[in-house]
Amino acid sequence: MSDALNYLLEARPEAMKAYFTFLKRSGDHLDIRTRDLISVITKVAVQTEGGFRQYLTRALRNGATPNEVIDALLMAFPVLGLAKIVWATEILLDMDIPEFRPENLGAEPTWREVAAVDDLPMEEVAWFEVDGRHLFVYRTGDDIRVYDSRCPHQVTDIPHLALEGKRLTCPKHHWAFDIESGECVEVGNRPLRRFEHKIENGRLLARW
Ligand code: FES
Repeated sequence: MSDALNYLLEARPEAMKAYFTFLKRSGDHLDIRTRDLISVITKVAVQTEGGFRQYLTRALRNGATPNEVIDALLMAFPVLGLAKIVWATEILLDMDIPEFRPENLGAEPTWREVAAVDDLPMEEVAWFEVDGRHLFVYRTGDDIRVYDSRCPHQVTDIPHLALEGKRLTCPKHHWAFDIESGECVEVGNRPLRRFEHKIENGRLLARW
């Protein structure tokens, strides 16, 4: 929440709580994806970049597909107009979310080879680039965890230089993650996205 909203919550708690209750309850009869897509469109309508990035991230996390986001933008043409749709598309391009790349639109999840298991350091974090996506891989004993490098806040691609030991800090708004558990341990409140994985013939595969 912004400093301004925090201030208003403190200065006018009753009015602001009523406002937030209204926002929460006004979509009671919509499924979550529809609600999220409408929220995304409202941020495009008022051209709030931070809000757009955040609501888009939430929509994707709750199951909206890139094709649905694009459809929602285009369907809102009568109220948004082309300029705002282009504005949102430029932000999408800047975010460079792998699922939005034209070759990935509508693609089904598939298994991808990451590395030889023997090449994974024990109790340390390794960083990989696989099919245009960056991954952090942590191995301890028989347990392997494969994390998306994209921040759960606004999908920033967290660079491997942001890693200090087992702590990963997103450079954008400083959400910090414990790479052993994937949990957010400072500033934010959502964990890193973890990919399903398996081992075949001594090779680590991950699926997305
Ligand atoms: S994008 Fe905001 S903390 Fe990572």
